Amino acid sequence: MRVLITGNMGYVGPVVVRHLRQTHPDADLIGYDTGFFSGSLTDTGLLPETLLDEQHFGDVRRLPARLLAGVDAVVHLAAISNDPMGNRFEAVTDAINHRASVAVAEAARDAGVKTFVFASSCSVYGAAAGPPRRETDPLNPQTAYARSKIATEQSLRQMELGGMRAICLRFATACGWSNRLRLDLVLNDFVACALAAGEITVLSDGTPWRPLIDVADMARAIDWAISAADQAPHFVAVNVGSEERNYQVRDLAQAVAAAVPGTQVSINTAAPADTRSYKVDFSLWRELAPGHQPQVTLAQSIEQLREGLTAMGFSDRNFRQSPLIRLQVLDRLIKSGAVSEALERQ
Ligand SMILES: NC(=O)c1ccc[n+]([C@@H]2O[C@H](COP(=O)([O-])OP(=O)(O)OC[C@H]3O[C@@H](n4cnc5c(N)ncnc54)[C@H](O)[C@@H]3O)[C@@H](O)[C@H]2O)c1
Repeated sequence: MRVLITGNMGYVGPVVVRHLRQTHPDADLIGYDTGFFSGSLTDTGLLPETLLDEQHFGDVRRLPARLLAGVDAVVHLAAISNDPMGNRFEAVTDAINHRASVAVAEAARDAGVKTFVFASSCSVYGAAAGPPRRETDPLNPQTAYARSKIATEQSLRQMELGGMRAICLRFATACGWSNRLRLDLVLNDFVACALAAGEITVLSDGTPWRPLIDVADMARAIDWAISAADQAPHFVAVNVGSEERNYQVRDLAQAVAAAVPGTQVSINTAAPADTRSYKVDFSLWRELAPGHQPQVTLAQSIEQLREGLTAMGFSDRNFRQSPLIRLQVLDRLIKSGAVSEALERQ
């Protein structure tokens, strides 16, 4: 099997590559990334890309067709991938996350690729009070990022797919340890706050609901999509996570405080309400992929983050302004002239 993984040099990619290398030792694994976060390594162990057969550098807005030759599955992770980045780079988010994703899918289909895996997001549900959201429920995106994921799903749904399957995995909010860590995710941020300052400052009033998934379980889901998906429909958009991991943000803060003794939790009761709040129903995922269900518990995600951050001597109270925050990295690349405002390499 030959697998092309776009955006492999981000937060999720290294965990996916490590997992696929273990489960498909003979597969050809090829990475393609523009390398925005190539330097954002958080441990001194193995460089994640050494587990690949090939690493190519470039922009998904211009993916060379030759990289798709002989490829069985494309795992499309490349994206401007969170709400603050989507807000700052709104038009570019559409260009990369939507238009380039559709062009990559079309090129993959034309090259005879059998499976196109699109990393979508449960953030498509946005502001969704009430019962857990199913795939058939109305979407209510609150951000450019969420809108870009919906637009790609819709394009894939309408596309003439030929012999290719399009599998859109609507991931819960990611958390957990990776060799290219991000601290701009709710649980990762809380563990970092607890370790650096002994105090978790919750930036909202703590009431929003968020489903979580560990990056290791995202990798397990992607493995299903590329290897066991012949039972899947030709096109599917499925929520990926588990009901037990629908949490309110304040409960996440309390769980981290309990795991890092001495941590205080301060909730900003005066904060404007965060409209992004949704509980998610994962029954379709259980039905489709019973052998690839999430396994990592909240306690394990917290513990692995605590261990990893402790091992790297993490103590930066100002980490929200540090290169462990993706938006900070992009802003620095732009200021240095390495990357344009359109996020093109100069
Ligand atoms: N982290 C989450 O909570 C989460 C949740 C649901 C879905 N997802 C999706 O999973 C995927 C991976 O997320 P992540 O957290 O690893 O994101 P990330 O920002 O850490 O990594 C994205 C990677 O894509 C690359 N990239 C961005 N623009 C590119 C371009 N134009 N050409 C080539 N490469 C480009 C970046 O260099 C980076 O290595 C994304 O599509 C994201 O939207 C993430």
